[in-house]
Amino acid sequence: MKKLFIKTYGCQMNVYDSARMADLLAPLGYGPTDAPDEADMVILNTCHIREKAAEKIYSELGRMKKLKDAKQRAGGAMTIAVAGCVAQAEGAEILARQNAVDLVVGPQSYHRLPEMIAKLARGAGHALETDFPAEAKFDALPENDAGAAPAAFLTVQEGCDKFCSFCVVPYTRGSEFSRPVMQVAAEAEGLVAKGAREVTLLGQNVNAYRGPGPDGEIWSLAQLIGALAQIEGLQRLRYMTSHPRDMGDDLIAAHRDVEALMPYLHLPVQSGSDPILHAMNRQHTAEDYLRLVERFRAARPDIALSSDFIVGFPGETDKDFEATLSLVRAVGYAQAFSFKYSARPGTPAAAAHKQVPDDVKNARLQALQALLSAQQDAFNTGCAGRILPILFEKPGRKDGQAVGRTPYLQPVHVDGAASLIGRIVDVRIEAVLSNSLKGVLTRPLEKVLAH
Ligand code: 5AD
Ligand code: SF4
Repeated sequence: MKKLFIKTYGCQMNVYDSARMADLLAPLGYGPTDAPDEADMVILNTCHIREKAAEKIYSELGRMKKLKDAKQRAGGAMTIAVAGCVAQAEGAEILARQNAVDLVVGPQSYHRLPEMIAKLARGAGHALETDFPAEAKFDALPENDAGAAPAAFLTVQEGCDKFCSFCVVPYTRGSEFSRPVMQVAAEAEGLVAKGAREVTLLGQNVNAYRGPGPDGEIWSLAQLIGALAQIEGLQRLRYMTSHPRDMGDDLIAAHRDVEALMPYLHLPVQSGSDPILHAMNRQHTAEDYLRLVERFRAARPDIALSSDFIVGFPGETDKDFEATLSLVRAVGYAQAFSFKYSARPGTPAAAAHKQVPDDVKNARLQALQALLSAQQDAFNTGCAGRILPILFEKPGRKDGQAVGRTPYLQPVHVDGAASLIGRIVDVRIEAVLSNSLKGVLTRPLEKVLAH
């Protein structure tokens, strides 16, 4: 058995792709390892979204080169592959910058890995694949073998046509593509048969999903969710990431009507200032966003909201930043991600004149994160004392402990629940820790197991 080490950076779509690469290589005799020094094949599945994320790859490749050299000195061999968005964006430059790299494969081409490995074995030099449509990839991938993970990911849509002026995604992931409804349904059924109780539908613009349906019509994400909710044993559905521009009335209504659809919405807004939103080419205003949030809350009053924010976008003034803080206060988030603007080569905003100095970005990020983290604490504290259904996903750090998630996606640790992994069980939330909750079963374990 050969050993495969995959290190994943960036978003959940990369997590999904890494799992699929492992599925693809299993028939070639590769089994997973957590120890890169033991690996016959190392894949770095990379992220290009911010400069820091991309630069990390080269230092990691430097470390991998040392392991590869040591293995070669001991008479062994190691193949190093760079996959994901840095591979797509930088292509041959990676081979030039780090000669220990054998393979470079973009996110739309990784179904060609077996061929590329065969080419290497023939001694045909480095292999580089960076342009094939997502469509061909999904047709060529083997069945999703996510093991028995209770909470699984399923990519339903890829790519982005929105061209926010700061973002590399339209360039690295290509234009929007939706997988056919029946292909998605078959993958979801397979995941449930292997033990999944929750499926998160993934897409860079997942709510722009427009997939060919079995009736010859184009289906929306809400229609897809309605169909998947019928799968016996599939108890929870989630989706991410959405764009405010693509939000359909039917998706909002699904939060009221579809029981399996969890009360959680990741809806990036990026900024609360209209001039900045305009310069970002977001094509919505702060008011549009707030109105959308109101409509979601009307459909599902307890919905937990999450977002992404960028501070220090070129031209952002103190007043613009204040507008972001007011939007955050107006929404009240359960959770959020915030980043300093990072100029990405080739994107329109990178060429803008009024770049914001780093110390200003730092101060704004700190202020925003303080506000968001206070909101997260308030949301978590509001759950203390409540009884919530928890899907147990994996063992916790302590013996006998299990970690699961609430409908609002908060992680919960419960002692003595390890035998409940894969099940949804009522838990009383007893304490709020910094990034998670602590709970207890509401009934004795034997009683829960008897059901
Ligand atoms: N700089 C900083 N953050 C960025 N994001 C995307 N591009 C950039 C950039 N150039 C953030 C956005 C997006 C998230 C995935 O990453 O907030 O929603
Ligand atoms: Fe990037 Fe904007 Fe597309 Fe999101 S919607 S991937 S931020 S261009």
